[in-house]
Amino acid sequence: SIPVPSVKELVAQTLDAVPQRYLWDVDRDYPTAPAFSGDSSLQVPVLDMAKLVDPQYQELELQKLHDACKNWGIFQLIGHGVSDESIKNMHIKTRNFFDLTPEEKKQYAQKPGSLEGYGQAFVISQDQKLEWCDMIFLKAIPKNTRKLEFWPHNFRDALDTYSNDMRKSAASIIGFIAMGLGLDAKTFSKAFEGGNYDVRMNCYPPCPEPERVIGISSHADISAITLLTDCGHIPGLQVLKDGQWVFIEPITDAIVVNIGIIMEVVSNGIYKAPYHRAAVNRQKDRFSIVTFCYPEKNV
Ligand code: SIN
Ligand code: FE2
Repeated sequence: SIPVPSVKELVAQTLDAVPQRYLWDVDRDYPTAPAFSGDSSLQVPVLDMAKLVDPQYQELELQKLHDACKNWGIFQLIGHGVSDESIKNMHIKTRNFFDLTPEEKKQYAQKPGSLEGYGQAFVISQDQKLEWCDMIFLKAIPKNTRKLEFWPHNFRDALDTYSNDMRKSAASIIGFIAMGLGLDAKTFSKAFEGGNYDVRMNCYPPCPEPERVIGISSHADISAITLLTDCGHIPGLQVLKDGQWVFIEPITDAIVVNIGIIMEVVSNGIYKAPYHRAAVNRQKDRFSIVTFCYPEKNV
């Protein structure tokens, strides 16, 4: 991997034009779809965990969940029971981390050839287009996968709590996703209670030319499912639906659940791992915390 400057440092140099290697022909981001053509009549489904567990509403909500996984591969989850404090706290700590000085952050920098730590994702060529995103990527669960030398001191406790909350949420939602496929909910929940969880915290600084820049380019996740929280109410995540990029409008306290390629395979392709990407904006830093969820090995 090749070291590139932090986007936050770049922005701090009172930039009036975006450097060439951040300028994408966004319309040609794969797969081809116009950048901001968002059809506002399309809205990502919202599922309610409180209804999924309530016998009175379960059947209807399960049908909604099945349709969401089949037609979208992404939905927002409310009523999930993760405390607002845990999510907010992790977001405050994340913001504080990215606000550290470049020297302070460098202590946690990625080592050549590895994604883990503070830096950028997959920079493999001097010629490639760069993403408008600083990030820190950490293995969080099980505990013996943690490389604490990359864990900023200011958020160790918060991330311990947050990743456990995400593990519990993943285990419960995956049970219902399995039910929708006619698979055994208990087996799936158990595999995710003991699963592997990697967390990526993203910082997207404000950008003078947001229409020509991309925070994270179009991709599908390789996880089984991915859980995303987006605390600042700044839209950024987009999903490709029927050839259109649709913004996921942040809902207070919701967790965005995204089907990954592993789940697409497990479902025989009935559920889709959707293409998605992160757009940036002119005004404000945006932060997202993304948890990649994998089942326990050997189940
Ligand atoms: C992604 O998960 O690929 C996008 C993250 C984001 O919405 O910030
Ligand atoms: Fe993703």
